[in-house]
Amino acid sequence: RPRVTFGALAAMKAAGEPIVMVTAYDYPSAQVAEAAGVDVVLVGDSAAMTVLGHESTVPVTVDEMLMLTAAVQRGLATPLLVADLPFGSYEASDEQAVATAQRFVKTTGCDAVKIERGGSSVDRARAIVAAGIPVMGHVGLTPQTAATIGGYRAQGRTAEEAVALCESAIALQDAGCFAIVFEAIPSAVTEAIMPRMEVPVIGIGAGPAADGQVLVFHDLLGIYDGHAARFVKRYADVRSAMVAGVTAYADEVRTRAYPQPEHGYGMPAEEAARLRA
Ligand code: KIV
Ligand code: NA
Repeated sequence: RPRVTFGALAAMKAAGEPIVMVTAYDYPSAQVAEAAGVDVVLVGDSAAMTVLGHESTVPVTVDEMLMLTAAVQRGLATPLLVADLPFGSYEASDEQAVATAQRFVKTTGCDAVKIERGGSSVDRARAIVAAGIPVMGHVGLTPQTAATIGGYRAQGRTAEEAVALCESAIALQDAGCFAIVFEAIPSAVTEAIMPRMEVPVIGIGAGPAADGQVLVFHDLLGIYDGHAARFVKRYADVRSAMVAGVTAYADEVRTRAYPQPEHGYGMPAEEAARLRA
């Protein structure tokens, strides 16, 4: 498969071909995404919860995201790689947003960055794009600011809210975003906005009208043990398989069933004789 390009994503939208996006946070999960043939890999700040154990996405730092993104990049050859700019790393000014985005591109080899919300983030998106770095937008349920939008709940469920959401999406598109994530909004709202969207819309809990879908790696594989949102579909039960594997190992260590001779190293007979002497 050829490398996925920004042009390829636009062509997929034009052709009505669904775009597949998944998160990844390390080298092996990137290799899994590569092998599965996905189109876009996102190093989401969901890493704060899925791999760092925080209760929200807010605490993850730029340095942590840089390390995870670089690891993912080493595991990818084909998909487009997008990195989330974490909370507090881009909101203050255009200068801060550009500097943070540049750090990600320089040190991780990611193709693009993602920022959350409309409003002041529209200006941040425009500034990063003007600096030559592609930006993905993110509207609807924006976990970095969940506290200000009533928590982890669907957005755009009133006509007024839906109109505001539509305006944010259009503003991000006009600011030059190459794609926009719609998270946790009524399917009917996505459907209503789609005719005005010229760039790919990647949905998560936004219904079937979006140009593509994204899910969190640990959610779709059943690795994450916390609360799962309504939009999560579990395609595997990997956590059970991992617990079963480690439990079987622990049992064999305790019963001395492991290791067996084939797991050990031999030494030349004459060296063994010299050792005994
Ligand atoms: O952090 C994340 O995983 C995300 C996706 C769910 C879009 O932002
Ligand atoms: Na995110």
